[in-house]
Amino acid sequence: MLSKEDNELITRVGPGTPMGRLMREYWIPALQTEDLDGPDSEPKRVRLLCEDLVAFRDSHGKVGLVAENCPHRGASLFFGRNEEAGLRCVYHGWKFDTTGACVDMPNEPPESNFKHKVKVTTYPCQERGGIVWAYMGPNDVDAQLPDLEWARVPDSHIYLSKCLQECNWVQALEGGLDSSHISFLHSKLDRSTIAAPRGSVLAEQFGGADQHPRFAVRETDYGFVYGARRNATNDQYYWRITQWLLPFYHIIPAEDGAVVTGNAWVPIDDEHCWVYRASWHPDRPLTEAEIRDYRYGGVMHEEVDPVTFRPRANMRNDYLVDRDVQRTESFSGIKGIQAQDMAMIETMGPICNRAREHLGTSDTAIISMRRRLLRLARELENGDVPHAAIHGEAYRVRSAALLLDRGIPFDEGARERLISPA
Ligand code: FES
Ligand SMILES: [Fe+2]
Repeated sequence: MLSKEDNELITRVGPGTPMGRLMREYWIPALQTEDLDGPDSEPKRVRLLCEDLVAFRDSHGKVGLVAENCPHRGASLFFGRNEEAGLRCVYHGWKFDTTGACVDMPNEPPESNFKHKVKVTTYPCQERGGIVWAYMGPNDVDAQLPDLEWARVPDSHIYLSKCLQECNWVQALEGGLDSSHISFLHSKLDRSTIAAPRGSVLAEQFGGADQHPRFAVRETDYGFVYGARRNATNDQYYWRITQWLLPFYHIIPAEDGAVVTGNAWVPIDDEHCWVYRASWHPDRPLTEAEIRDYRYGGVMHEEVDPVTFRPRANMRNDYLVDRDVQRTESFSGIKGIQAQDMAMIETMGPICNRAREHLGTSDTAIISMRRRLLRLARELENGDVPHAAIHGEAYRVRSAALLLDRGIPFDEGARERLISPA
């Protein structure tokens, strides 16, 4: 459990909050590259860390991310004219470039120097891996993009989706770090098998047999790696090894040679987050069948409304739970791994009350994550910048799912497998 005070501290990310300050030390996904079509794109609203922003691509193709409200009298720059290397407010014509400088102020006398005194709040952006990354913190000289594998593979190797999740980002992340629920929520009725990406032979064989795995967490520079250990054979354990990468990334365990899937739960505000979900193969293009499966299958990547990104199965329709299916086929009666997760996580409430929980040994990873976030937020108040925020290479890791001889610590036995080469 967490005290009311710590729950506030860990969940709130608005400007000036301790967790908001920590979050702003990292480059974070702001929107998808494809959201901004070519030069002089239509401006797009972006809400991020409780701030209302507008993104646009200028005449040179450079992305600008500015505060939505015009510094003149607060009209929305969403309605702005994106023209000749800047975004022009349609109220009185003030124009701003991607650095935030006011480059034209046509309703003031030409001899006035006023435009040089005005700036719109702006955040630096970089594009990589189909994402426009933004840095909203105080030190964009040292901060580095996280060198996540999915953001480095060629476009042909990755399928990236975005989905709206209507709850606080911490509980969404906790859902990803909670390894024990897969033997229940994502299982068939007899719980003989657990849900895992296609080609997960070991998950089919050993995932369902042992429903109370043991957990081991190792803290790292980037967050932690943890192993969930299930009994497999007399000599071996089945290990599912996964990472939490600061502040909100997670990689689902994948077997050697399989497609890997990972998530980013990016806070829109304290009660909503984006789920960016990447499925990628480190070494080969995805096949047409795989892409079709992600796009239309509704299992690994949820079907969403193309405008709001709200999933088809959502809290308003009880995630389309089918009681017949629940009686006869699947443990939950809800179709799709992502929908199953959301049904459990969103219905905890927009910000779950952690003072009322009863955590067990299966919640080890969640407990570690919370302690680490709270510690980092407090350390930052004393001026200690988190290591991974300024060391992008710390993120070059990969998950694993494999059999290891009993007696071998998981991080030793899987050492090579857990590295994503530069
Ligand atoms: S409010 Fe934008 S130019 Fe006046
Ligand atoms: Fe899940």
